[in-house]
Amino acid sequence: MADLQNLVILTGAGISAESGIATFRGPGGLWEGHRVEDVCTPEALARDPALVHRFYDLRRAALDMVEPNAAHHALARLDAEWPGDLLIVTQNVDDLHERAGATRLLHMHGELRSALCAACGIRERWTEALPPESECPNCGMLALRPDIVFFGEMPYQMERIEAALAEADLFVSIGTSGAVYPAAGFVQTARHYGAATLEMNLDPSGGSHWFEESRMGPASALVPAWVGELLGGG
Ligand code: OAD
Repeated sequence: MADLQNLVILTGAGISAESGIATFRGPGGLWEGHRVEDVCTPEALARDPALVHRFYDLRRAALDMVEPNAAHHALARLDAEWPGDLLIVTQNVDDLHERAGATRLLHMHGELRSALCAACGIRERWTEALPPESECPNCGMLALRPDIVFFGEMPYQMERIEAALAEADLFVSIGTSGAVYPAAGFVQTARHYGAATLEMNLDPSGGSHWFEESRMGPASALVPAWVGELLGGG
């Protein structure tokens, strides 16, 4: 651990599960009531905007009822105290990392508390319901949509992520099933560039065999323990 400097940490729905946000693919997972094609594709948005907007309105409203858990707080502590480079790449569209205090963070799949203008491309902080045909504050078009990266769309900030992976000494994956690319491939990219790799998940993920070390258990226990190992103290 002595020559560790640059960290890239990928998080998924599992890190927010203990805050009360359902994961996507587990029992009771979000997709169970909805086929993914009905709520998370550009075609769905074009076909039934009211359904898609309502689905994300409910999820945005649910953020008022949840709080960051010990895993989010531990990563925020690491972010604040780690002297080397660090980047938290979250697939999550909730805002629990930043509410815990993390700043070296990017949301590769978008954010619930953001609206995207399909006409001019501006991203606007949005905390209320977002009815279809809401007016863009920038260009005036009735084109605001949830700022969520749908299946078939390019995740945000891929170049920055690739650059961080190329420089990483350690790549850590927390609470993700490894079912969705490109995030599922980050472990291979990191290894290609020589990083050590660690997975923390409740159970083995689809990509577990790619990781040099896997720790199984709830994120609220595993992540604070790991951060304690890196930084010392509690
Ligand atoms: P998944 O629901 O696919 O996987 C969540 C993972 O977290 C599973 O492997 C669980 O075993 C694990 N898990 C559950 N509870 C946990 C806990 N308390 N501690 C640690 N691990 C736990 O969620 P993601 O991998 O994040 O995309 O899904 C990836 C993407 O699929 C999402 O970002 C979303 C969806 O399509 C978009 O919304 C664009």
